[in-house]
Amino acid sequence: MSTYLFELESVRYKYPDGTEALRDINIKILPGKIYSIIGATGSGKSTLLMLLAGLLPPTGGVIRYKGIPMYGYRGVRREVSLMFQDPSLQFICDTVFDEIVYGPRQLGMDVDSSIRRISPLISKLGVESMMNKSPLRLSGGEARRLGIIVALAHDPETILLDEPFNDLSYNYMNALKEVLISLKHGGKNIILTSNRLSDVLDVSDEVILLEGGKIRWSGPIECLLGNMDIISELGLDIPLHIRIMDELGIEWSHSRPPSTEELMNLLKRHIRPR
Ligand SMILES: Nc1ncnc2c1ncn2[C@@H]1O[C@H](COP(=O)(O)OP(=O)(O)OP(=O)(O)O)[C@@H](O)[C@H]1O
Ligand SMILES: [Mg+2]
Repeated sequence: MSTYLFELESVRYKYPDGTEALRDINIKILPGKIYSIIGATGSGKSTLLMLLAGLLPPTGGVIRYKGIPMYGYRGVRREVSLMFQDPSLQFICDTVFDEIVYGPRQLGMDVDSSIRRISPLISKLGVESMMNKSPLRLSGGEARRLGIIVALAHDPETILLDEPFNDLSYNYMNALKEVLISLKHGGKNIILTSNRLSDVLDVSDEVILLEGGKIRWSGPIECLLGNMDIISELGLDIPLHIRIMDELGIEWSHSRPPSTEELMNLLKRHIRPR
């Protein structure tokens, strides 16, 4: 068995209209971590997730999942789950409840035990009040919260979430971060995308920076935090905490930026009372 979850070698993807969305992607992804794929709009994040989910075959190179070529891997549907950037494209049932149990049912799993297992997440992400609604009549943030539950409902090992923080209010963003961290501690592999570094700062272990369909940089988040120039070059946001500390010359460990509370204390110490 490979030590890597995914291995991508010289992976390319060209859409039928000739757009080269991914060019020469080489990366090894470890299990048990939270990876964030960050890049400006159009950099290839969604295309890369579709390839990792086995929904698009690479037009060049090879993708291995647990050491086995993706297209020879029979358990992929059960083990790897993707939430689309627009989750409503995946909804096919008349009610939210049916949508949640659709995946487990298709895989022959017991519906009651699936619901029991997922119900803490249903309440944490505030989906229980929508159970009888049509999935196609939800707001953007509601649809995304449902999309996340649907992606997790059959207890997959590897969870791919395309822009999971989009449209979420602050409370649900924090709830989702807690969910992701507890899934990781439960042994799940998580890969998500975002075009905002600040959204993923406190959940990511590893970051992959995409630019024009190529990997511009990849590595542990601590290494990226000491190298913000690359973030500006890609036209991405430098998280406000980091800007404040750098501009004021406040020393901080580059392993993690401080929480808001810690930042307030640092600022109080830094700015002397008049
Ligand atoms: N079905 C398609 N046919 C042709 N080109 C496509 C198709 N889908 C995406 N592309 C192109 O592939 C490139 C990468 O698109 P992709 O959706 O992967 O980017 P992204 O990083 O996810 O962008 P965003 O942040 O806007 O979601 C873009 O140039 C886009 O125009
Ligand atoms: Mg996208």
